[in-house]
Amino acid sequence: CSAASSLKEDIREGMGMNDSKEASDSIDVREILDRRISEAMLRAFGDSAADADPMLTAATKEEFGDYQCNAAMSFAKKMKQKPRDVAAKIVEELQIADLCTEPQIAGPGFINLTLSTEFIQSKLRLMLNDKDRLGIEKKNPPQRIVVDFSSPNVAKEMHVGHLRSTIIGESICRLLEFLGHEVIRLNHIGDWGTQFGMLILYLKQVAPEVIKGEEVDLGDLVAFYKKAKVKFDENDEFKSNARKEVVELQAENEESMAAWRHLCEQSRKEFKKIYDELDITFEERGESFYNPYLKDVITSLQEQGLAVEDGGAQVVFLDGIANRDGSSQGLIVQKSDGGFMYSTTDLAAMRYRADVDRAERILYVTDVGQAFHFEQVFQVARRAGFVSDTVSLEHVPFGLVLGEDGKKFKTRSGATVKLKDLLDEAVSRAEADIVARLKAEDREESEEFIRSSSRKVGLSAVVYADLKTTRTSNYRFSFDKMLALQGNTAPYMLYAYARIQGINRKVGSEDLDLPSVDVVLDDISEKSLARHLIRLPRILAELEVELKPHTLCDYIFELSQKFNQFYERCSIANAESEELKRSRLALAQLTARVLKLSLHLLDIKPLERL
Ligand code: ARG
Repeated sequence: CSAASSLKEDIREGMGMNDSKEASDSIDVREILDRRISEAMLRAFGDSAADADPMLTAATKEEFGDYQCNAAMSFAKKMKQKPRDVAAKIVEELQIADLCTEPQIAGPGFINLTLSTEFIQSKLRLMLNDKDRLGIEKKNPPQRIVVDFSSPNVAKEMHVGHLRSTIIGESICRLLEFLGHEVIRLNHIGDWGTQFGMLILYLKQVAPEVIKGEEVDLGDLVAFYKKAKVKFDENDEFKSNARKEVVELQAENEESMAAWRHLCEQSRKEFKKIYDELDITFEERGESFYNPYLKDVITSLQEQGLAVEDGGAQVVFLDGIANRDGSSQGLIVQKSDGGFMYSTTDLAAMRYRADVDRAERILYVTDVGQAFHFEQVFQVARRAGFVSDTVSLEHVPFGLVLGEDGKKFKTRSGATVKLKDLLDEAVSRAEADIVARLKAEDREESEEFIRSSSRKVGLSAVVYADLKTTRTSNYRFSFDKMLALQGNTAPYMLYAYARIQGINRKVGSEDLDLPSVDVVLDDISEKSLARHLIRLPRILAELEVELKPHTLCDYIFELSQKFNQFYERCSIANAESEELKRSRLALAQLTARVLKLSLHLLDIKPLERL
């Protein structure tokens, strides 16, 4: 509300501002229109419109224009006037000639707004002028943003859930980085906990060479872990010795620590294979990193009266979160045996990120199953003052990965799918597709071309299929669907990009001086493509807030469809005039640049030829 009223003040002050300057800089169109409508309402209705919402939405159909303003309808109620009369008054005061054609009042009182050709051309010019950023300015001032993602566990398989976190997290990092923010990419690996006592003890007994430093496959490590767990549950002596082993580890006994470090190293190697395939780098700060800060978290919670003893454990009772019987739910922060919890580590980590990293926004990319965990730790961190109110804490949840049959994602034999195998399979299927296609087209290509294109297509398919799914929905993993050449898939997008680049090469646009081209928008398909191109800043601005990469996938899918329609109707090579040819080439090149940038933000590097 305070932000809204300060915007109104800005508007009052700026009523006499130079409109055409504002319209030609890179502020997103919707933002400008929002302002102009607010201004018009203030002029038409005075202070009673001070808090009125412009209620601007994208037009539902292209023939209605670009935007629809619904303010008149709700405001009419407040003013006890007819919506169409209110709409007429707004339109009368609306100063948008530099942006739009004459506004149209429709239906019960919608105001339809259509961007003018001149305005679209000016936006295109801005994008054509700026090869790398396409007219999108860096955020000033930038924010410091922690992105906690991927975060698999040592001595456990990195599973498809971690793959989703990795892919979504990477895409979010790329977007925020592109927008100019200072991003701290953190891999919060599960590398600490009482389970290591059990595992090390078991290895000492059955495979001492492993804890002495012999190479071990992650799969074997997971198998050892499972057997150790069985023994732990069945055998009391083993159980009590495992506890002793945990004490040794906590006391940082050198032999135990060496074993632990070795186990982490073996897992890390395996994780790295996946990160390398997907071109991902980050800082590893596992749970163990926060060990020195855990005690202090508890002390601080106790001193503030937040943590209290309950059945020997230290518990923080939560505000507004009740158990079934109505009693307040408690979050255990220290067990009765003195051990710390997953949540304790997260509290310490949050405090560290706020104090030491000076983060202003902290994002956690995990599956929805952890929503409650984050709700609890966020609340405790705030109440304890570990994180001030100015810092935004956000859980970025995603849905489950399911098999094609909608059930749990497993191999045919029922085992959990190894990520490396999964990526390899996508690549080999992509290779089969490419070889078949080359044969059908009677095309000869080098081994190297086939190998590298298959890798690109296969890996991109996995990444894209994940990102194009609404983040919070469950998603069915299907090789056939993700590798399909038609539809909203990576192969489709990669071929679309390569095809446009092919056109650009063929028609010879190397020496085309893009910024100097006057783009002609006479044909409906040219205009439709252009209108879509200039939406890019808005898409990215929304993505920055909502963190839903599927909107970018939808955007580029629609972009390539619009390009196809344009290319069908408007010949580039045989354009009627040299001017038209240059104009269409400029549109084609801009489309390619928007695609390339968007794919980059989705962790996909397109191929110039495919
Ligand atoms: N290691 C956890 C898991 O596999 C994910 C950690 C997420 N990050 C965090 N700060 N809790 O479920």
